[in-house]
Amino acid sequence: MATDSLTVTDNRTGQTYELPIADGAIRATDLRQMKVDADDFGLMSYDPAFLNTASVRSTITYIDGDRGILRYRGYPIEQLAEESTYLETAYLLIFGELPTEGQLAAWVDEITRHTFVHENVKRLMEAFRYDAHPMGMLISSVAALSTFYPDALRIDDAETRMIETKRLIAKVPTLAAWAYRHSRGFPYVYPQNDLGFTGNFLSMMFRMAEPRYVADPVLERALEVLFILHADHEQNCSASAMRSIGSSHVDPYSALSGAAAALYGPLHGGANEAVLRMLAEIGDVRHVPAYVERVKGGEVKLMGFGHRVYKNYDPRARIIKQTADSVFEVTGRNPLLDIALELERIALEDEYFVSRKLYPNVDFYSGLIYQALGLPVGMFPVMFAIPRTAGWLAQWLEGIVDPEQKIARPRQLYLGSDERDYVPIERRAAVEAASVA
Ligand SMILES: CC(C)(COP(=O)(O)OP(=O)(O)OC[C@H]1O[C@@H](n2cnc3c(N)ncnc32)[C@H](O)[C@@H]1OP(=O)(O)O)[C@@H](O)C(=O)NCCC(=O)NCCS
Repeated sequence: MATDSLTVTDNRTGQTYELPIADGAIRATDLRQMKVDADDFGLMSYDPAFLNTASVRSTITYIDGDRGILRYRGYPIEQLAEESTYLETAYLLIFGELPTEGQLAAWVDEITRHTFVHENVKRLMEAFRYDAHPMGMLISSVAALSTFYPDALRIDDAETRMIETKRLIAKVPTLAAWAYRHSRGFPYVYPQNDLGFTGNFLSMMFRMAEPRYVADPVLERALEVLFILHADHEQNCSASAMRSIGSSHVDPYSALSGAAAALYGPLHGGANEAVLRMLAEIGDVRHVPAYVERVKGGEVKLMGFGHRVYKNYDPRARIIKQTADSVFEVTGRNPLLDIALELERIALEDEYFVSRKLYPNVDFYSGLIYQALGLPVGMFPVMFAIPRTAGWLAQWLEGIVDPEQKIARPRQLYLGSDERDYVPIERRAAVEAASVA
């Protein structure tokens, strides 16, 4: 009869061990019993970049990278993108279930009431240089919020956790919009609380002299879809950062600022910015084949292609492509789109990309939409961070109450020098010469 266990023989000692398997995994700590002698620390597993290590048990987001599946709390991303709103999806991620009408109304109302930030935050924003990267401004201002809410440190208190969760979901768009306004030298626009979540965000971004800014409903909905698609993606680099920093029991503002910093990198949330720079560098459809050759030669990477877990078309990329079409009908066609379409066409046929299972990811088209909305490339990772705030918080909340979570502390394989004596600086040249000779 099959049993849920793994039998391992340690060939150094000839000993056999039986390790239980639960939910398709063995516990890495079960390896520690395998020792060559009593002084041995015990066997470890070595897994740089966590390629095959589950660090949590989670009920939030499910991804099947080979089949191109993404679900939040069991609901397919395609259905949420079609039917839901960002705030409803955020509720789903945080609480685990879709809200009733009353629950949704209360949730939206509470988030809306938290959209304002302290006036001192405005002055903090003003202190940045005129050309400061908006993502740097967002990361810093989110961290600064912890100083306005010292109570946020009471992470053991469920009510406090929920207040900070609402504050963060509500205030990040305000900080994001102000970072943009600062970079343009425009006055900051206060939240307009009779507008919806994305409508208010667009108003804070683009309102000028008009008494009331009402966004085009197509663009408002497109942003809603983009926000839903970006709301969570299980244990990626920034979610792991959120959980890892949160595991030290710091306040959620500091943890979320660290998660946003992880998102800033070009291999993660900065990829859509990199895609646009790449498309601009290619410049013309006729230059696409030559660029693909450079990619295949290992000279450059095709930004917006490839994914650590999707080895199939990223389901979000499919939806974003449709969203792009609706946006371009309002804003006019982005001239870089033709280059993107040609790149995708060639790459999907080319053996280099096919054999490595490199497909367009969510960032390949999102940047084109953001550009069509009039956003500078520096704002692209910021646009990713706004909705991902809900996902980071859902991951953080789950981690805080998980009885198995401890402070994150990976092991290392130490390969450095054995103990040696300190050499005074005046003798180092002589010691070095002796060791070379
Ligand atoms: C996302 C990413 C970091 C995943 O990396 P990964 O899972 O570690 O994949 P690997 O780096 O092991 O790549 C496997 C192979 O595909 C190649 N590859 C991966 N992504 C590539 C890309 N975008 N362009 C060209 N080649 C790529 C690698 O060079 C490697 O080839 P090799 O086997 O000949 O050495 C990577 O695909 C990438 O850098 N993509 C571009 C950045 C991007 O769009 N990021 C957004 C993610 S949402």
